[in-house]
Amino acid sequence: MACIYSPNCWFLYTFLPVLGPAQPVVAVAGEDVVLPCYLKPNISAVDLSVEWFRVQTKDPLVHLYRDHEDRNENQIPSYRRRTSLFPEELRNGNTSLKVKNLRGSDNGEYKCLSGKFYDDSSIEVHIKGKNLEFWLEMSLFFFCIILICILIHLYESLSTLMILL
Ligand SMILES: *[C@@H]1O[C@H](CO)[C@@H](O)[C@H](O)[C@H]1NC(C)=O
Ligand SMILES: *[C@@H]1O[C@H](CO)[C@@H](O)[C@H](O)[C@H]1NC(C)=O
Repeated sequence: MACIYSPNCWFLYTFLPVLGPAQPVVAVAGEDVVLPCYLKPNISAVDLSVEWFRVQTKDPLVHLYRDHEDRNENQIPSYRRRTSLFPEELRNGNTSLKVKNLRGSDNGEYKCLSGKFYDDSSIEVHIKGKNLEFWLEMSLFFFCIILICILIHLYESLSTLMILL
């Protein structure tokens, strides 16, 4: 569960800046994610090559499809057996990539390239750790409770003081 977008984390909105229009894909470690990419104009990608890669890395290949099959010999090792295209979607120009079982190291910017088509916008992926998120929520919760206790105590002390005066 991505806390930022769920209503039971309303209290977090107060502390977080508003995200820009190009929202990153936010996902939790261990889950699956689909990185969106489409050919414009809408033509079939079946006979083209589809390349997914990371921005600003030396050997950046995340997934390669060419001559009608996946060719992932030179893929970044950490992505092995975790990436797939949607074969039935390729003919609609949908070259979105599925990444399974997300890891912290998947954090970063991705781009997709197909035949001569190149979309210069990149997709940013933010992986959030489950444990860190839980810890943050809990500490915020207890911080609020402590604050309320202090305020009640202060109020009571003040009332006593008023009576005495
Ligand atoms: C592309 O066109 C096909 C039909 O021609 C349609 O089914 C598909 O949804 C379209 N894809 C996109 C990404 O618009
Ligand atoms: C592209 O394919 C993915 C996976 O099936 C799907 O989730 C997504 O909605 C598709 N996009 C369009 C525009 O058809």
